[in-house]
Amino acid sequence: MSSPQVEVLLEPDWAAAALVADVRRGLAQQPRRLPPKWLYDTAGSDLFDRITRLPSYYPTEAERSVLVERAGEIAAASGATTVVELGSGTSDKTRQLLDAFAEAGALERFVPVDVSETTLRDAADMLSARYPDTEVEAIVGDFTLHLGHLARYDRKLVVFLGGTIGNLYVEERAAFLGALSDSMSPSDGLLLGTDLVKDADRLIAAYDDPEGVTEEFVKNGLRVLNRELGADFEPEAFGYVPFWDSRQKRMDLRLRAEVPQHVRVPGADLEIDLAAGEEIRMEISTKFTRERIADELAAVGLTVADQWTDPAGDFAVTLATKV
Ligand code: AVJ
Repeated sequence: MSSPQVEVLLEPDWAAAALVADVRRGLAQQPRRLPPKWLYDTAGSDLFDRITRLPSYYPTEAERSVLVERAGEIAAASGATTVVELGSGTSDKTRQLLDAFAEAGALERFVPVDVSETTLRDAADMLSARYPDTEVEAIVGDFTLHLGHLARYDRKLVVFLGGTIGNLYVEERAAFLGALSDSMSPSDGLLLGTDLVKDADRLIAAYDDPEGVTEEFVKNGLRVLNRELGADFEPEAFGYVPFWDSRQKRMDLRLRAEVPQHVRVPGADLEIDLAAGEEIRMEISTKFTRERIADELAAVGLTVADQWTDPAGDFAVTLATKV
């Protein structure tokens, strides 16, 4: 077995500087907002893990069932010898796919990309042991910044799962998909997981569990600011407000100040006054139709080669190629 390579593209203080910039920009907007990537510190990642096991949170299981069912087909259709995974985390569901590639003897290289160096190193060690004939070349990077780096790999399948693309605003998605397309050549593919539009009741239930795990996950974002920037948010002074925005076709997860609050964020050199009832948007989770997926891909020169859903039609996995 060869040991995994780990390439670090992020400056050591990247996260700190990016958090300050995001907080200064986001808290000045109306409605105030914070980018969801900061929800995933260790505590947040553990809470998200619990979310994926909630009975009402269907996307994880739905996507897994597609991958279990279709991994062999995807591996064959992509014809790839390198698999790149964006936001790989522990590469949990991807193992399904990697197993299928490995079985076909087609997996030369796996490139997991994640912002968390510790998570990535652990995952890379585990994956090297599991796939002894595959080079593991991990990249510590941000999938919105370092896509240019992927151009060096050919016959690659870029995998972006979990519905994470739904966290991005429409203009961010266009920029992300455009940069991704630029890093691809006609022999490359993209495998994209997206949650689909469905009844508002089911959507809201998926983000408003009775145990309050999702509320804790969202409120953890304030704890991250308290810890990293010395802020004095009081998470208990906020109500959790998840709603379905039927016009934008996205879940909008907010925290509402129950009483007027003066909040100091010294690490970002910022003080804000929140009126009673004022909200901070902590995360969006966009839901797609098949047409919208195809349209947004087509806009950046990618074309849908195949598309699968779970039996209930809740979640789509799309294989796209460069035109
Ligand atoms: C990890 C972004 C796919 O949008 O469903 C789950 C995050 N937030 N419950 C999603 C999330 C609250 C999740 N993604």
